[in-house]
Amino acid sequence: MRMTILDIQKMKERGERIPMITAYDYTSAQIADRAGMPMILVGDSLGMVVLGYTSTVPVTLDEMLHHIKAVVRGSQHALVVADLPFLTYASVEQAITSAGRVMQESGAHAVKLEGGVSVAPIIARLVALGIPVMGHIGFTPQSVNQIGTRVQGREARAAAQLIVDALAIEAAGAFGIVLELIPAELAAVITSRLRIPTIGIGAGAGCTGQVQVWHDMLGLYRDFAPRHAKHYANLADQIGAAVESYASEVRAGSFPGAEHSATMPADTLTAALAQLADRAGEA
Ligand code: KIV
Repeated sequence: MRMTILDIQKMKERGERIPMITAYDYTSAQIADRAGMPMILVGDSLGMVVLGYTSTVPVTLDEMLHHIKAVVRGSQHALVVADLPFLTYASVEQAITSAGRVMQESGAHAVKLEGGVSVAPIIARLVALGIPVMGHIGFTPQSVNQIGTRVQGREARAAAQLIVDALAIEAAGAFGIVLELIPAELAAVITSRLRIPTIGIGAGAGCTGQVQVWHDMLGLYRDFAPRHAKHYANLADQIGAAVESYASEVRAGSFPGAEHSATMPADTLTAALAQLADRAGEA
């Protein structure tokens, strides 16, 4: 059975911590799903870790859809949350069109969008139309050109604003909220004031759950090593070594071995060559 937003809310009410991970393709979604992830995020971090952009700003809705579809196909149990990319929810009407496409074309189960009080009316409208929405405040990567990549909410005024933003997102009907790159103490206060789960990334252990980017967590993405990303594996090294071994075996002629090859009886091949000779004689 697929997880629903009601199941996520029940996890929060039972005091369970909620793990979430990003995925961008069929295979990784399958691995995450089989590992028991209750929620998979098809983040617009896709732009950086998969498509090689320098930020999430260039990511388009069509690019997202391509990957969200694969993640939905690869998962059976996880709730798939998909990011609405930059400038696809600048108005309520545009948000309805964009979120509608995500839900109808990809089969995702919820959308995520960035922003606080200013996006609350958009969240409220999407929720009223039956689209589950996850909020995202703190460091909001789509605003990188305005806010840089630093921790948000360190000053009293900014911290107070983030609390107001979180409450507005909850009041608008969001089923959860990502808190990215904010002080742990502030994230804990926000979490204690909300009924919906908070999912932290670089926001300390006081959140209801945590989200990590697939490539960071597995040590696949070497261009950027943020403090909040723990490497549970160093797959870039392992994959690099595997690719080198493969290349050297091809160069040495030791791959493929007999066990990797199909065979045919020698007399069948002899017959085939004889037929070829006959055809050449006839021509
Ligand atoms: O795009 C993304 O992967 C995200 C997470 C970092 C929360 O928004």
